[in-house]
Amino acid sequence: MREINASIPFDKRLWRQDLAGSKAHVAMLGATGIVGPQDAATISAGLDTVAAHYEANGVAEDMVLEDIHMQSEARLAEAIGPVAGRLHTARSRNDQVATDFRLWVRDAIDQVDVALKGFQLALLARAEEHADSVMPGFTHLQSAQPVTLGHHLMAYFEMTARDRSRFADARARGNRSPLGSAALAGTGFPIDREMTAAALGFDGPTRNSLDAVSDRDFAIEYLTAAAQVALHLSRLAEEFILWASQPFGFVSLSDQWSTGSSIMPQKRNPDAAELVRGHSGRIIGCLTALMVTMKGLPLAYSKDMQDDKPPVFEAHDLLGLSIAAMTGMVESATFRTPRMRAAAEAGFSTATDLADWLVREGGIPFREAHHITGRAVKLAEERGIALDQLPLEDLTAIDARIDDRVYGVLSVDASVASRTSFGGTAPARVRAAIAAAREELA
Ligand code: ARG
Repeated sequence: MREINASIPFDKRLWRQDLAGSKAHVAMLGATGIVGPQDAATISAGLDTVAAHYEANGVAEDMVLEDIHMQSEARLAEAIGPVAGRLHTARSRNDQVATDFRLWVRDAIDQVDVALKGFQLALLARAEEHADSVMPGFTHLQSAQPVTLGHHLMAYFEMTARDRSRFADARARGNRSPLGSAALAGTGFPIDREMTAAALGFDGPTRNSLDAVSDRDFAIEYLTAAAQVALHLSRLAEEFILWASQPFGFVSLSDQWSTGSSIMPQKRNPDAAELVRGHSGRIIGCLTALMVTMKGLPLAYSKDMQDDKPPVFEAHDLLGLSIAAMTGMVESATFRTPRMRAAAEAGFSTATDLADWLVREGGIPFREAHHITGRAVKLAEERGIALDQLPLEDLTAIDARIDDRVYGVLSVDASVASRTSFGGTAPARVRAAIAAAREELA
């Protein structure tokens, strides 16, 4: 029973939040006269002693004391004697743990936000460097149209901006204090919930005691936002893994963020990227775990809810590592731009530009232009050359309306430079997007 019941092996991570909650609670008990001012002061000082003890020695995993709440109360009694017993007046472990965990998740969100901002700055720096570097843009992983590497990296900047706003939303919704909801029904003591809420930096108290002690949607929102970040990072990791492979050769990962093989001396393996990709699966698993734990629970508290913490802690640790690793890889990777350019040139990626030119200059309907271009691509493919290497007489043989001005749009540089629509890949557009992004971050 002791072993299955105890949460101290993992919830000791909440000790700071638990003591902060208790300090706010006892200050309120003193201010409202529920506990005498002298006792309240003694308890408050005792909580500081407990904090110093944990800071110096860590939190012991004492299964008899079950969880961080019992543990801290026992430590408090050791420090100040029986007056410690007054702390738990007008409180239950149910509102206590809900308060602790909300505080912890709030801190976690703030940490993730700092890390994500760092990741965005890394993306911006590399995007700026490569605003003109041409690479193939893909659909179906087939060469589609040329884009710039800067544009590609900025796509991840945008995803990360939305990720950060998801965390900000979760933070705002979750920033309400359950303290004072007591076990489930509230309390008959004349407590001041506004006071404890303000002391803990919450925007105010939660409005329904049953809801406050028995919902964990704030944790699920954290995990949802975390899973979405992990998913985005996993896609970039996957691209780095592909790009670092020899047939692609688009990127060289730094020594710092890759590993060797114990048998093959030539190897430089993208282990960190693979683990970011792998960790995303585990983080999604954490989200699933908590949703499934919660879905069948009648109101209010059931002990199943003690299982809310391990998946959140696990996801948070994995996410922190993943963001740090991806940031490091982006910062230190060498992009092999000649290979990227050659791949863009080899894939007939300016075929759309030829078709667009026929529409614009020849007044040809797009469907027909598409067909004419298809014939040009087929011919170039047969000869093993690029579109802009086809002699003019071959092009005019396909369609007499083609003239030598067409060569102005067939190069990959001309192609990307022409994509000036808002949100497009033209280097001028990408530079403007980077400038706007920098302003947003500042
Ligand atoms: N360790 C418990 C948890 O994490 C604290 C709340 C226990 N409440 C109770 N009534 N048994 O959920």
